[in-house]
Amino acid sequence: MENVIELINKVQDVFSTIGGNDSLDLPQIISVGSQSSGKSSVIENIVQRDFLPRGSGVVTRRPLVLQLVTLASSEDQEQPQEYAEFLHIPNKRFYDFSEVRKEIEDDTARIAGSNKGISRQPIHLKIYSPKVLNLTMVDLPGLTKIPIGDQPTDIEKQTRNLIVDYISKPNSIILAVTPANADLVNSDSLKLARQVDPEGKRTIGVLTKLDLMDAGTNALDTLTGRAYPLKLGFIGLVNRSQQDILTNKPMSDAIRSEKDFFLNHPSYRSIAHRCGTAYLSKQLNNILMNHIRDKLPDIRSKLSTMIGQTQHELAQYGDMGLSSKLHRGSLVLQLLTKFANDFVASIDGTLSDIST
Ligand code: GDP
Ligand code: NA
Ligand code: MG
Repeated sequence: MENVIELINKVQDVFSTIGGNDSLDLPQIISVGSQSSGKSSVIENIVQRDFLPRGSGVVTRRPLVLQLVTLASSEDQEQPQEYAEFLHIPNKRFYDFSEVRKEIEDDTARIAGSNKGISRQPIHLKIYSPKVLNLTMVDLPGLTKIPIGDQPTDIEKQTRNLIVDYISKPNSIILAVTPANADLVNSDSLKLARQVDPEGKRTIGVLTKLDLMDAGTNALDTLTGRAYPLKLGFIGLVNRSQQDILTNKPMSDAIRSEKDFFLNHPSYRSIAHRCGTAYLSKQLNNILMNHIRDKLPDIRSKLSTMIGQTQHELAQYGDMGLSSKLHRGSLVLQLLTKFANDFVASIDGTLSDIST
């Protein structure tokens, strides 16, 4: 993870050096599934932060657009402190993530009412941390069939349209969440994902609640790709249970018990290395790396255009005999060329490290 963050930061630095409106345009990761399938839990696990309202019943009632922002740590300074900011509360930094959860709950109630209603109006949250990639993740309300509380009679259609709006963007990666204790053929998330991504190129199947399957059953067929075709495959997870949430089980303990679950389970032991949250994060990193690999030729050609332009300017100074300017100019060119070479070498190095 660490070198992925460094790499992407370098690429983003280059973009800001080159200027213009370019950006890496990293994919958005969207969590989709039926009510209480574990969508919010999956996002929390990837971010490794405890900050989202979760639980049985209708908890996520507005889209949460979560923008992760890498905080640079300078060499002499210790790790900068993580904090969060909401778009609707400018200039306030939240250092306590339980307050972040409280604010999401309060603002959800403010816009969507306190009786199960759902609103399309997103909550925009930014988390600044030295440990995250500059990425956007979206947590969406779950699909429900039967209206409850304040929900309108066409709640199913409304939520479906809301989800489709987000996952239709070609740049989005769909985390199609299905609980392992429900039938895969009835999976709402897979049906929706197939609608917008028929070839299954940007859909990752996420199977939650493997710990809650009936004794004597297992999800091996799904996890090994025999049950449903997806190019990016299915990844099995064990998130924190409601009990774990009530007892505030720390994230790091949850990840450790998840790992033990797969290593000790007679059916999953042999595929334990491609199960769990750590593996899901690794797969997401691979997707990001491929994205950068695709962008690399473009970055290279922009850098060489820049070098060419500087050379051209220098040649003109030369004709005019401006020797001090020429001197300064050739220093700039040297630095620029060195920067471009170092940059390309380090990207190539990191990419080959990661793909092995
Ligand atoms: P969402 O409605 O899809 O966002 O689902 P949540 O993330 O809020 O989870 C719904 C409930 O299921 C919560 O009580 C979670 O603790 C629980 N849950 C989610 N994933 C798992 C899992 O893998 N195992 C267990 N035992 N419980 C889970
Ligand atoms: Na829920
Ligand atoms: Mg949720």
